[in-house]
Amino acid sequence: MHIFISGATGRNGRIALDNALSRNHTVTVLTRNPSSLPSNPNLTIIQGSPSSQQDVQTALSTPSPPSSILITLNQRRTSDNPFAPLSPDSPPDLLASTTRVLLAAIAATPFAHPPKIVLNSIFGARESWKNLSWAFRAVLDHSTMKYAVKDHNNTDVLIRESGVPFVLARAPRLTDGPAAKVKVWPENGQGCGWNVTMSRESLGAWLITAAESNEWDGKSPVLTN
Ligand SMILES: NC(=O)c1ccc[n+]([C@@H]2O[C@H](COP(=O)([O-])OP(=O)(O)OC[C@H]3O[C@@H](n4cnc5c(N)ncnc54)[C@H](OP(=O)(O)O)[C@@H]3O)[C@@H](O)[C@H]2O)c1
Repeated sequence: MHIFISGATGRNGRIALDNALSRNHTVTVLTRNPSSLPSNPNLTIIQGSPSSQQDVQTALSTPSPPSSILITLNQRRTSDNPFAPLSPDSPPDLLASTTRVLLAAIAATPFAHPPKIVLNSIFGARESWKNLSWAFRAVLDHSTMKYAVKDHNNTDVLIRESGVPFVLARAPRLTDGPAAKVKVWPENGQGCGWNVTMSRESLGAWLITAAESNEWDGKSPVLTN
């Protein structure tokens, strides 16, 4: 299948890209800075911004419209410290504003079948908030990460209301380490436990599986290892 990835230069996006290519999919990525990306005959790189509808339309039609669109964009902080300020080039509504652009670009692109959006979302978005531990909720509420939660909440609503098929993958705290079995929980995360994690390798692989399969279409599961 053909997949479009927005955010392929990021940590999760790059793992998803490598998974897609290793499974013999063709991939188009849109990035501001392609220098870190591999050279591969199945990879088309469009240099541009997810905030530009013209750039997104070019990516959606080069070399052909995708079956699935994977979003792994992230607001950047100036460091990994959850209290660090956002980077100057990272608007607090990065995900929602670029999703509006993407939805407009999809509407302007002739698709034979509507593409599916697979969003790298977050455990804590919308109805999953209440099943986070109180300690983690407190950190999210009082750190710069509150912008990410709000942005994911707004993006979740935008995608659901767009009528475009979707999978919203609500990932917990991410760790480095090898891929491991992924457990798929209800959208509120009930029963998953209070200190759950998932490796980035597991998430990147699962995102591509969600693009390939229709098993989770229309769902927003919480994921853990
Ligand atoms: N960290 C966690 O524990 C955790 C847990 C659950 C869910 N998540 C979610 O996982 C998702 C991906 O996170 P990640 O850690 O893989 O992200 P990341 O490594 O920080 O990568 C961010 C990506 O977004 C792009 N980007 C950032 N600012 C941009 C801008 N202003 N314009 C255009 N592109 C921009 C970057 O492109 P450039 O290379 O051009 O900068 C890069 O491709 C996020 O939505 C995050 O909320 C994270």
